[in-house]
Amino acid sequence: MRLAAAELVDQREILPGQWLQSYHAPSLTAGVRAGQFVHVRTGDYAGLLLRRPFSFNTVDAATGILTIHFRTIGGGTEWLTRLRPGESVDMLGPLGKPFEVDRRSRHVLLIAGGLGMAGVRLLADEALRAGRQIVMLFGAATARDVYPSSLLPDEVEYVVATDDGSMGHHGHVTDLVPDYEAWADQAFACGPFPMLRALASLAAGRRARLGVASLGRKRGAGRTHATGSPEARRKAFLQVSMEQNMGCAVGACLGCVVMTVAGTPQRVCREGPIFAAEEIAWEAGW
Ligand code: FES
Repeated sequence: MRLAAAELVDQREILPGQWLQSYHAPSLTAGVRAGQFVHVRTGDYAGLLLRRPFSFNTVDAATGILTIHFRTIGGGTEWLTRLRPGESVDMLGPLGKPFEVDRRSRHVLLIAGGLGMAGVRLLADEALRAGRQIVMLFGAATARDVYPSSLLPDEVEYVVATDDGSMGHHGHVTDLVPDYEAWADQAFACGPFPMLRALASLAAGRRARLGVASLGRKRGAGRTHATGSPEARRKAFLQVSMEQNMGCAVGACLGCVVMTVAGTPQRVCREGPIFAAEEIAWEAGW
């Protein structure tokens, strides 16, 4: 974890109310993995607001450039869009645990709802570099909210669902998953809580529906792994990026806890934000 003054290089509004900003922060880009995040000190010009967490959207360690993707929801994020190139913000990172892709996985399914794209976008780059095939399922309310395909690598197969049917499949992004569950070796998701809960339910029934061998049946499958461990994530078919309100983002305030099926609370900022879907006690709500 490092603290840096990140200099704004470029910004644009990629969708109504959604911004993509590029920052030069070489000390933060080294060793970053998909799923991790930065904690940014935003301001209201009175300096009263807390830091805000943002997933690493893309990272280029060679140039020291990282991007974040966010929606303006007032306060700190609105303030960020008033920055001008050359101005700096205080960033802390990389924070949190990353997605873990099993080395045997060749077919990677990414699932994003709305701004959840920011949580899985970097994994597309990582998986492509490792020679994996990627399908990205994306859900939005309407066509005007659909993440531009031009911001994804050409190699990604991009499939869209909209609630109103104005683009792609008419319905929820979760409707698309059964078409890919036999193809995918692993799936990785970020989005609203109901979407993640529905995906977890689908993943739980996948083996029975397919009736085929899975990663978990191979050597070492019988071993149990500690909740929140990299091994537990790597073994899971579905990993989720959990969103939770954060205060400190370094594990001290316990403001971001989620409950697991093992009954052990886990801090999204420290043990997460990435969890094996089967570890989460989804019925707890919170
Ligand atoms: S935000 Fe403080 S413990 Fe996670």
